[in-house]
Amino acid sequence: MKSLIIAGNWKSNKTTADALRWLQDFKNHIASIPTYITVVLCVPFTLLYTVKEKIRGYSLPFMLGAQNVSPFPEGAETGEESARMVHDLADWVIIGHSERRKNFSETDEILAKKVEQAKGAGLKIIYCVPDDSTGIPSGVDVVAYEPVWAIGTGKTDTPENANSVITNIKAKSQVPTVIYGGSVTAANVASFVSQPAIDGVLPGGESLDPEKFAALLMNAYG
Ligand code: PGA
Repeated sequence: MKSLIIAGNWKSNKTTADALRWLQDFKNHIASIPTYITVVLCVPFTLLYTVKEKIRGYSLPFMLGAQNVSPFPEGAETGEESARMVHDLADWVIIGHSERRKNFSETDEILAKKVEQAKGAGLKIIYCVPDDSTGIPSGVDVVAYEPVWAIGTGKTDTPENANSVITNIKAKSQVPTVIYGGSVTAANVASFVSQPAIDGVLPGGESLDPEKFAALLMNAYG
């Protein structure tokens, strides 16, 4: 069995009460998670502490991820979370998601600073790109290929094309682990992870529902 990374991205969703309900429901829907799957749950900053405590309490084999990090070191940066602060609670961080590139004007230059900060603090990085021509800073642990038109639309890339783009990304970037994101569901996850070059998936919408996310993990190998 090849190792897989499945990174759930809650985006800007859920209060503390919602998150607690999700965790309780999730553990009732899954008996165990196969050891070849690394689950990274990427939650808003406001939920990191609560989710961290609960996954320990429930003995869920989750790694915790944040969805953003400051491009600056700790200091006078109102409203920002420095990499050192993020690493206090999370092991992973998503950098370069297309929603941040588009809605928050994050340029390749800003993203490179975020990668540098995250790396320096010891965070593991999932770096998102929309295609195989976008630059990838060095020091990234996992790349997520996420075609913009497939995010939140219910339209996916074909597994074959995703496999081919991911093969190109691996060859160019030398990053050995590349996953696919964009409308991944419990129903289609196996078609992606069964492709030889695809090392996992990054589901957004499907991760918001504990039953669907549990089904996605269980279906990850058909
Ligand atoms: P989606 O989101 O699964 O809802 O398409 C994926 C992502 O944005 O990372």
